[in-house]
Amino acid sequence: MPILQPPVPQLPASLSFAEKTAIVTGANSGLGWASIIHLAQHHISTLILAAKATKAALLADPTVRALPTQPTILVYELDLSRPSSVASFASKVLAEIPTLNIVLLNAGMGDLNWVTTPETKTEQMFQINFLSNALLAVRLLPLLRGSAQKSNSTSYLCVFLVTMLVRELARRTDAAEVTVNSVCPGMVKTNFHAKQPLWLKVPIFFVNALRSRTPEAGARALVNAVSAGPQSHGEMLADFEVWENTFLDTEQGKKMEEKVWKETLAAADSFAPGSVEEANLRD
Ligand SMILES: NC(=O)c1ccc[n+]([C@@H]2O[C@H](COP(=O)([O-])OP(=O)(O)OC[C@H]3O[C@@H](n4cnc5c(N)ncnc54)[C@H](OP(=O)(O)O)[C@@H]3O)[C@@H](O)[C@H]2O)c1
Repeated sequence: MPILQPPVPQLPASLSFAEKTAIVTGANSGLGWASIIHLAQHHISTLILAAKATKAALLADPTVRALPTQPTILVYELDLSRPSSVASFASKVLAEIPTLNIVLLNAGMGDLNWVTTPETKTEQMFQINFLSNALLAVRLLPLLRGSAQKSNSTSYLCVFLVTMLVRELARRTDAAEVTVNSVCPGMVKTNFHAKQPLWLKVPIFFVNALRSRTPEAGARALVNAVSAGPQSHGEMLADFEVWENTFLDTEQGKKMEEKVWKETLAAADSFAPGSVEEANLRD
């Protein structure tokens, strides 16, 4: 790992999300907030912020205020620690949004304390960073597929950092219809480490000062991922490039991936019965 991170390429000026609708989770801060600003600057038509962020806060941002056309902004509540909230969020999207082109599942947390979630008593980081995102991906996949057919353009589903899930989803999805990928934006200075213990915060502070990127730069990698083309299908992008994870092709990696996939489908079945069939993910 180089001490200093290379610069993230600029997004092409010609990149346009005109006529497109995107959901960004974790949109109220850090990488999520920076991503929605990039999407707005690249002509997105409708933004659904899954967060506590308010429409007013986004419209008050000077870069968004300066845009010649303002996107339509909807704010939907989502708490990934509660499967009931994930289910309500997905149902609201499916009922109210006729065409959905981009889903950027960015929300996540870095609190290392052992805390279990109120509804399922699952360890919170696992529930928030993995299970709830997996459930959202399964629930929203049919709408992304239908929207691709309707608008004759590829939809994008970008799930943060869960490469095994992304590979399995991609195997059961046509890249031309829905490109499924994952992205790592490198080290970015955000609130992500705010709840970590002091012994970890102190070194992170110094590492951040030395090598971390701004959210604006990190978010370019996220926005690139939701426009990266079919070569990113089933892959993880490190900045703008596909990152080869050789472990996943070993026997152990394959076994682990199979187990993750089976258990994820079982969880989706129990949280949202019928969702796996609806998303056409059963072999
Ligand atoms: N920063 C880095 O160096 C880095 C590197 C690689 C990957 N990432 C990934 O980037 C993503 C965004 O993180 P960030 O760095 O931008 O940190 P951040 O500023 O802390 O943003 C995290 C976002 O996730 C939301 N979130 C957390 N728990 C949630 C929950 N239970 N339900 C709904 N939303 C929830 C937060 O909302 P609240 O503010 O309301 O809690 C916030 O909007 C994370 O998935 C992280 O794993 C970060």
